[in-house]
Amino acid sequence: MKLNGQRRWAATGVVVATTAATIAVALGAPPAGAAPGCRVDYTANHWGGGGFGASVKITNLGDAMTGWSLKFALPGSQRVAQGWSATWSQSGADVTAASMSWNGNLGTNASIDIGFNGSNAASGDVNPTTFTLNGTVCTGQQQPTSTTTTTTTTTTTTTTGNPDPGNRVDNPYAGAKVYVNPDWSAKASAEAGGSRIANQPTGVWMDRIAAINGTTGARGLAAHLDEAVRQAAGTPLVIQLVIYNLPGRDCAALASNGELKATEIDRYKTEYIDPIASILARPAYANLRIVTVVEIDSLPNLITNVTPRPTQTPQCDVMKANGNYVTGVGYALAKLGAVPNTYNYIDIGHHGWLGWDDNFGATADLLFQAANASGSTKANVHGFIANTANYGILTEPNFSIDESINGTSVRQSKWVDWNRYTGELPYAQAFRQRAVQAGFDANVGMLIDTSRNGWGGSARPTGPGPRTTVDAYVDGGRLDRRIHLGNWCNQAGAGIGERPKAAPAAGVDAYVWIKPPGESDGASEEIPNNEGKGADKMCDPTYTGNARNGNSMSGALGNAPLSGHWFSAQFQELMRNAYPAL
Ligand code: BGC
Repeated sequence: MKLNGQRRWAATGVVVATTAATIAVALGAPPAGAAPGCRVDYTANHWGGGGFGASVKITNLGDAMTGWSLKFALPGSQRVAQGWSATWSQSGADVTAASMSWNGNLGTNASIDIGFNGSNAASGDVNPTTFTLNGTVCTGQQQPTSTTTTTTTTTTTTTTGNPDPGNRVDNPYAGAKVYVNPDWSAKASAEAGGSRIANQPTGVWMDRIAAINGTTGARGLAAHLDEAVRQAAGTPLVIQLVIYNLPGRDCAALASNGELKATEIDRYKTEYIDPIASILARPAYANLRIVTVVEIDSLPNLITNVTPRPTQTPQCDVMKANGNYVTGVGYALAKLGAVPNTYNYIDIGHHGWLGWDDNFGATADLLFQAANASGSTKANVHGFIANTANYGILTEPNFSIDESINGTSVRQSKWVDWNRYTGELPYAQAFRQRAVQAGFDANVGMLIDTSRNGWGGSARPTGPGPRTTVDAYVDGGRLDRRIHLGNWCNQAGAGIGERPKAAPAAGVDAYVWIKPPGESDGASEEIPNNEGKGADKMCDPTYTGNARNGNSMSGALGNAPLSGHWFSAQFQELMRNAYPAL
């Protein structure tokens, strides 16, 4: 799996707007009470050259506070240069404004005005839309309190009965356990040292029609859901399913081609999506929170790998022309979204694929088109997932795109190559903003697959590279040690990343392990199989590359099995290079 390696198509100029924009995050002034709640009004005045001034009015709608901390993510590359009336800090896109000794008391319905001067605004940037105050998302209303007496969790609205679509919680991972797939867990435990991670939750891949009823060594969907109900034992539990069987699947790579031909959209609907949706809708599963990761490596191919781009493939041209990716994704969203306890997250590749200006916004707009295809509406989209089965680091602490070395911007380094992002966290947070601009709901949330993006081990740099040249600086300091950002198959040197975690950063619902560590990305030689899988040169360590990876060596481990099949050597290396270490 995991196509990519899409460098920029052409560098674009940046035009800075000289406008003023005000966003009221939410309206209304509900009565005070025990529940937390807040409202934030954010106004930005742009004065050209990327500079702007932002006024931020915080209103406490909940109980009186004696200290407060406001968090939000600044889109694009925007930076806080100098702030007032709060202690301001920024890490990547994440900004925190903490109360000062003299203004920490904020009574019920009281407001405080703070602000900052910022830099690096670009023309496509939107204002931040999600703010949290002392950990509570500011919706302009008090947060709903629990309507049930059968649970002690504080984050859920309803945990019993049959939820209806209006009862989906904002972040399904908050206060919930996550399903451990016993089939993966058994393989992990059988490895020396594997028990250290075998109890982690991983994605359950519905990667072909046969997977619905189960295949050798992998139970079927209903059996997983039965086991999930058992694991839940009456408490909120998320099960993570990967919907991955589009016609003409993975049109720019061969390793994860699928069983359905480019034209077989009707089979996708009737033999794949419909049966999955009808199993998910069974009353026995109504209390599960079913996260569906929808069709990785699909829609962005229609932006980056089609004529006239140099990265074009004939199969991606076919899929663009026949519309079956858009039709299929819309159908999946509509059918799965009609089940009240599902949470659809659409795949958004990763920063090493879509982090260039030419790819980023166009993908968000295409996703919105797909979300409104085949009878779907945007209400069926709960959020987006970045880095599925890829290796992109969360953040690079040793360099930033705002720096220059000897007058040359870090963006001009060979590694960054004009990309707008250096990690998955700022990428995902910025994509969230851009998706809202494209028309998606303001409360969409992000997931990031951290199963294989740790890049620890003895080769991990401990500080910035030398400031001799921009390439020496970036290459000496970067944690992601791939030969090229576009490499994706069984990467040598990779390690397990952050453990799965709910609400780890602003706008992010969870870090998740969707690609199960130990399962191969693909084989470099044809291996007969009935899964539709081909061989991919990107999985051959001697391959010298193509336009999608800057004609670089593949960086793949040798002797890999078919995608999805167990790869012990890779599993062992991922554990060795885990960061945080196991
Ligand atoms: C494969 C799937 C597999 C998944 C998870 C994909 O690359 O095509 O068959 O289930 O990876 O390992």
